Amino acid sequence: MRLIEDLKKIFQEAENKFQDVKNDKELEELRIKYLGRKSYLANFPSLIKNLSLEEKKEVGKLYNDIKKRIEELYKQAKNLIKEEEIKFDFDDPGEEIEQGRKHLISQTFEKVSKIFLEIGFSIVDFNQIVSEKENFDYLNIPVNHPARDLWDTLWIKNIKNEERYLFRTHTSCFQVPIIKKIGVPLRAIVYGKVFRYEATDRTHDFEFLQLDGISVSEDSNLAHLKYVTRRFFQLFFDKEISIRLRPGYFPFVEPGLEIDIGCIFCNQKGCQVCKKSGFIEVAGAGMIHSFVLKSAGIDFKKYQGYAFGFGLDRLIMLKHGINDIRILHSSDLRFIKQF
Ligand code: PHE
Repeated sequence: MRLIEDLKKIFQEAENKFQDVKNDKELEELRIKYLGRKSYLANFPSLIKNLSLEEKKEVGKLYNDIKKRIEELYKQAKNLIKEEEIKFDFDDPGEEIEQGRKHLISQTFEKVSKIFLEIGFSIVDFNQIVSEKENFDYLNIPVNHPARDLWDTLWIKNIKNEERYLFRTHTSCFQVPIIKKIGVPLRAIVYGKVFRYEATDRTHDFEFLQLDGISVSEDSNLAHLKYVTRRFFQLFFDKEISIRLRPGYFPFVEPGLEIDIGCIFCNQKGCQVCKKSGFIEVAGAGMIHSFVLKSAGIDFKKYQGYAFGFGLDRLIMLKHGINDIRILHSSDLRFIKQF
């Protein structure tokens, strides 16, 4: 009889397939196919409606038998998959878990902090979004002063209490707020990201790192400034370093200075990096302008101070021979893993 042959064929097929099943998903597909509501077996009783009683008995017996065996095949396959899943190989060394490390920039922050703490400065933190006053006005850079052109600024749209806010263009913006907050005498360092609205290339990024330091007391002077900065550069580069001070212009210092270090690559003999000059320009500095001390509410006849600031990226790049600032700021593991 056709029906008997069909039933046997279905069983054969199911037996092969359940043997090969590899995972829960495949198993479920087979369950639906052979035991589901729309399967041949589920539909089978309606196929034998019109058979004689004798025939019904014969086919029905086989049907029940085969259905039970397929259910068993299903259960077996299910148990097998489970066993497979909980098998654990104690000898398998497994995948190696890679240990990460701090980014070169974070390592540098730690080193810089350690050096300045040793020299006798406090390390402070300051906002990245600051008021126009903090970034410019307090520092003797009034609205129409051409010096504002030096810092291409990213402004914040919202104005709070009539004040305009911006992404700090230099860490010097911490000067007046920190003097106001801590009072004098003080020696403080701040470092972190600064932002400028400009195109990027190998030596410029729109986001980069600066460090600023100030010392205000009754006798902070240029000799101190020279000692502190030179000591810093020596500890930072781990070698004897000479420095050179030149006149420079920044509205918030008077006199203003540029600080150069003796070229660390050629020992001042002249090379490509220092453009044969023997010196590399690394920092701006000077005696804090009386305007700034006044902005901070300090008696500038009694107190005086020096300030310095430099680009940290540049120092990192010099120290480690990195020729593109964008690599330093990237999260490229091939780069990061080298330090
Ligand atoms: N803020 C200056 C700059 O961004 C650097 C500087 C800091 C100069 C402190 C003098 C004193 O270039």
